[in-house]
Amino acid sequence: MERTYVMVKPDGVKRGLVGEIISRLEKRGLKIAAMKMQKMDLKEGEEHYLEHEGKSFFKNLVSFITSGPNVSMVIEGKDAVSIVREMVGETDPKKSSSGTIRGDFCLDIGRNVIHASDSLESAEREIKQHFSPNEIFSYKRADEDWVYE
Ligand code: RTP
Ligand code: MG
Repeated sequence: MERTYVMVKPDGVKRGLVGEIISRLEKRGLKIAAMKMQKMDLKEGEEHYLEHEGKSFFKNLVSFITSGPNVSMVIEGKDAVSIVREMVGETDPKKSSSGTIRGDFCLDIGRNVIHASDSLESAEREIKQHFSPNEIFSYKRADEDWVYE
């Protein structure tokens, strides 16, 4: 089983898309191992997007991601990192297929409603940044024997 970090960004929260997004993840069979609403300060925003430091869009990106509360999650399941990235769609919503979260709910690259870790290494780093170990739960979902063979 893999764990990945997922965030409904401030635009997704303000647009009332939290339930829709969580629902898609749950219905796929993925498990919510942790979840909370939080607002990042500047330092936390910069740390979250550290890999983009120095890029032209970095300042705007950090300002946007810290502009309001987000809903942060640890999502668990078989191949969770790549499965969730596929469900999210392309970075630029214009290039995202319908059926993906970005392809269905947004239009602009700077307002793309959801973040998901892009690799296992990023997932480990991001989970550690946003959650302490006692905020992450292990439990069995009632449908687990039917989601997995
Ligand atoms: P995210 O980290 O937010 O899940 O998005 P991602 O992996 O699909 O894309 P990434 O390359 O990590 O970029 C992070 C966020 O920066 C904004 N961005 N703007 N103007 C631009 O060229 C540009 N490129 C990236 C997007 O909001 C993207 O989600
Ligand atoms: Mg990224």
